[in-house]
Amino acid sequence: MFKRKKFTDAFLQISKEHIIYQQYINQLKDLIHDGTDAGNFDLLKKIVHNIKNDLLDHFQLEELVLFPAALLSLPSVAMADQILYLTREHGAFERDTETLIQIVNCQPEDNPDIPQQLIDFLKTYTDNLDKHARTEMEELFPKMDADKKCIAVIKDFIE
Ligand SMILES: [Fe+2]
Ligand SMILES: [Fe+2]
Repeated sequence: MFKRKKFTDAFLQISKEHIIYQQYINQLKDLIHDGTDAGNFDLLKKIVHNIKNDLLDHFQLEELVLFPAALLSLPSVAMADQILYLTREHGAFERDTETLIQIVNCQPEDNPDIPQQLIDFLKTYTDNLDKHARTEMEELFPKMDADKKCIAVIKDFIE
């Protein structure tokens, strides 16, 4: 679980979304732990479709509101570097999620075991997603949330 922080209202929504994120990460970790059993394939299908719906909206909120607000109110080379890195990771997650959707949609009904290669892919995907969310929740957002100008910019963008 992420380190708990008290966020202002401007960050409450995003903080709640990260808790949903964390639930998906935990579901995938449990599934990887349980292995390639046939019954797990349907579960994987559900998780991957839920991730696609929730994650892409979440990335949009970050890229259209939070990241520009960070660059405007806390400009530095280090901040620009971090935002660039996080945005590129969003692109990679979007592509990987799309790949996962295609794989789960293609699984033949008579062979519902999860291939080991897919389990390996899920391990990397889950670890990267976990690391990404931690960087935001524990490094970037507390810095932004402590800055009055940044909160004002976010409110201005949202209203
Ligand atoms: Fe993100
Ligand atoms: Fe995020």
